[in-house]
Amino acid sequence: MNSLKLMILCCAIGLPVAALADEGGDVYRQACAVCHAVGVAVAPGTPRLGVQSDWAGRLSGGKPEMLRAVLKGKGAMPPKGGDASLSDAQAGAALDYMLSRIIRSQPLASGDRRPE
Ligand code: HEC
Repeated sequence: MNSLKLMILCCAIGLPVAALADEGGDVYRQACAVCHAVGVAVAPGTPRLGVQSDWAGRLSGGKPEMLRAVLKGKGAMPPKGGDASLSDAQAGAALDYMLSRIIRSQPLASGDRRPE
């Protein structure tokens, strides 16, 4: 029911629903997949998309800490994955997409959830 309401709302204000829903995925494929996809030759320790165990030690700081790593860079990852044309919001949407791919496969302990 909720997604139906969202669709109606988006139509009413003229927003393309598909674009909204998949912006994070698009940015991920464009700017992040080159290092984070499963099966690419990544730097040692790169957490791979959807591989829960790669992320286990990284979730404890919550999303704000990961967002800081994405925006400022961390280890072998340059700021925003090296794509300076991305806005902070776009980089954040790609992070949300990556997180949604691991959270879906195994929910975080409730204590790890942070208010958005
Ligand atoms: C050039 C390769 C490269 C690209 C492109 C890249 N990353 Fe990374 N990413 C890495 C590496 C390597 C690490 C591990 C860094 C470490 O822990 O030393 C990492 C770690 C991360 C982490 C975990 C940070 C933490 O707090 O431990 C997140 C989240 C992340 N990347 C998101 C993204 C997003 C979103 C993008 C696209 C906007 C992106 N990455 C693009 C190489 C890359």
